[in-house]
This record gives sequence, C-alpha cells and structure tokens, in this order.
Amino acid sequence: MVVERTFSIVKPDAVRRDLIGTIYQRFEAAGLKVVAAKMLHLDQAKAEGFYAEHEGREFYEPLVKFMTSGPIMVQVLEGENAIAKNREIMGKTNFEEAAPGTIRADFASSVRENCVHGSDSPESASREINYFFTPDEVCAR
Ligand code: PPS
Repeated sequence: MVVERTFSIVKPDAVRRDLIGTIYQRFEAAGLKVVAAKMLHLDQAKAEGFYAEHEGREFYEPLVKFMTSGPIMVQVLEGENAIAKNREIMGKTNFEEAAPGTIRADFASSVRENCVHGSDSPESASREINYFFTPDEVCAR
C-alpha cells in the first residue's frame, strides 16, 4: 500500500446545496485525510486552464460556465491509494452509472452537475495540486 496525495474539488452544485460537510465526511470515513483546503470562486481563465485537456469537446464550454457559477472547495486528500480510493467513493462521472452509496450516486443531478472532481492518475494529481496549492499550503499530518 502506498500513501498518496490526490486533488479533489467540491463543485458549485454541491456547495450550493450545503453538501461540503457531508462530502468531507465521506472522505474521512474512507481514510482520506484533508491535508490542504480552501474555498474559492474560479474565474474563466483559471477554469479553462484546469480543463484544458477537454478544450474543443462539446461539453467544455458549459463545463467552464458551470465551474465558474459559484464557489467551490478545493482540497488535497492523503491516504493509502488515495487516487483510486477517492475515485471509488466519488463513483462514475455519469451518476446514473455510479455504484450505490457513492457520492455521485447519492447526490449528483447530471453528468455536469456531479458534485465532485478527483484526479485520475499520479500525474494529474501532481499537476492539479500544484495548480491550486503552493507547497507550504499542504500540511503534514
Ligand atoms: S472523459 O470523456 O472520460 O474524458 O470524461 P471524464 O474525464 O470522465 O470527465 C470529463 C469532465 O467533464 C465533465 N463533464 C462531462 N463529461 C462528459 N460528458 C459530459 N456531457 C460532461 N459534462 C461535463 C465531467 O463532469 C468531468 O469533470 P471532472 O471535474 O473532471 O470530474
């Protein structure tokens, strides 16, 4: 077992619906420790940069609009196999295919408004953590 760090977002739909605490509980119950966190409101450029790999796809522009529609929580989660563990408790991107008991199965309302984001590889975790946090903002626990 490897102790890893992963990057996570509580998206605007979940913040609007007061699900921050509920989602953090899911992280902690799964053994994922919050080692950095902040609330922010993405501007267009920051959101476009974050989702640059999807530029040109039909969902890109509405996704950027949604992600800039209200505050989000960004956090770094740490734990054994944190990247895969976080993806597991999030559930599939399409909430209708997400396993029962996952965050998206329980709370998502569409493929876009799906409550959470989580890094899908060590490379994206490293890139995404550094996109939002400086090294001194990530705490040892
Ligand atoms: S893909 O197709 O495998 O690259 O998609 P995925 O990496 O699972 O998710 C891409 C992000 O875009 C958001 N989004 C959509 N994806 C697919 N189709 C539609 N219609 C769509 N609308 C929005 C999806 O929620 C993913 O966001 P993140 O923040 O990466 O989870």
